[in-house]
Amino acid sequence: MNNFKFQNPTKIIFGKGQIASLKDELPQDANILLLYGGGSIKRNGIYDQVISALGDRRVEEFGGIPANPEYAKLMEALAVIKARDITYILAVGGGSVIDGAKFLSAAALYEGDEPWDILTNNISTTKGMPFATVLTLPATGSEMNSGSVITRAETKEKLVMGGPGLFPAFSILDPEVIHSIPQRQLANGITDAFTHVLEQYMTYPMGAYLQDRLSESILQTLIEVAPKVMEDPTDYTAASNFMWSCTMALNGLISKGVPTDWAVHMMGHELTALYGIDHARTLAVIAPSHYTYNFEAKKEKLAQYGERVWNITEGSTEEKARAAIQRTEQFFHELGIDTKLSQYTDDYEGTAEEVAKRFTERGWKGLGEHQSLNPEDARKIVEMAY
Ligand code: NZQ
Ligand code: ZN
Repeated sequence: MNNFKFQNPTKIIFGKGQIASLKDELPQDANILLLYGGGSIKRNGIYDQVISALGDRRVEEFGGIPANPEYAKLMEALAVIKARDITYILAVGGGSVIDGAKFLSAAALYEGDEPWDILTNNISTTKGMPFATVLTLPATGSEMNSGSVITRAETKEKLVMGGPGLFPAFSILDPEVIHSIPQRQLANGITDAFTHVLEQYMTYPMGAYLQDRLSESILQTLIEVAPKVMEDPTDYTAASNFMWSCTMALNGLISKGVPTDWAVHMMGHELTALYGIDHARTLAVIAPSHYTYNFEAKKEKLAQYGERVWNITEGSTEEKARAAIQRTEQFFHELGIDTKLSQYTDDYEGTAEEVAKRFTERGWKGLGEHQSLNPEDARKIVEMAY
């Protein structure tokens, strides 16, 4: 096991009816920016619960944060923060709204001229404006981590930022918010969380028994609850296990002491930036090709995953590993998720070259757990995913 430090300061408030606890958790004297997305919270009752818990605090609202939070829109919100002396951000939404709040938290205290530099220059945020979240869509884990992914339509880019100053102060996780989530987003959430675990697990054996079993247990739980959540989002047992699995998949715990990959996400982000494909679906497109392409380097963990998570017990290490990739792709299909790029766009020719070109321009010469996946490898993987 590698050496590690682990600190996660986010307080989690989990359970039915817990949105009301905003009343006790938010500082009384804060000037709050209530940040939300396209309006689902106004239709499903979450907005009303939040407003009633806020009481007589000073609150400014900013809605319209789109899926894949857009830089230009966030710059409008930043202007409101500055004009209205906002001191605290409350994000009510899924990963996009929460990531948007993280960008604003960093940008509000950023001293440079152009906040986009935070993303292009990899500036880590050590102190941001305080913020908290009410999670409405289990998927990204953003509610308990310090990472954020921001999109800029103008340049068709989707880049990552973060830093120890960007953990939410607290996050409210009420599994009942799942009732109103459309099937497509439920499937996305399951797929995204599942792939988050794979990115931190599907590397090489490290002798980190507990981390492996924590990862495997999250995968098994997601597999168990997936059909139940899709069938009946009001099934509280399924919903609560789904929600907590998504948070645990990316709150930093399972990656401690082990190598991590994340190349699937880096390639996937380009597909969203280029074609607007839902984040989770880009992962389902890339992951099978990525594991097939890097088969030799990953086959021990693939076989272990096949055995422990999918009960694939017959055959050699190679056979179990191959079957595990197939079973994973089948799982995505069972969720109604297509796993080939050509199923999302007719315009896919040239995508692999474009991804490789972007990686080269950014100097991303060595991704993955061995820092060895170069732009040419990315080109081949994306091409395999056509
Ligand atoms: O915008 P509204 O109207 O609220 O509708 C949203 C949106 O259309 C809807 N929705 C959310 N909660 C709902 C609901 N509809 C009905 N009932 C509810 N309770 O769902 C749609 C998608 O929302 P979004 O926030 O975009 O989805 P998700 O949570 O999957 O977030 C995706 C974003 O997170 C980034 C992705 O790249 C993408 O931009 N990621 C962030 C990560 C992180 N910060 O750690 C890690 C991830 O790998 C990911 O990259
Ligand atoms: Zn993801």
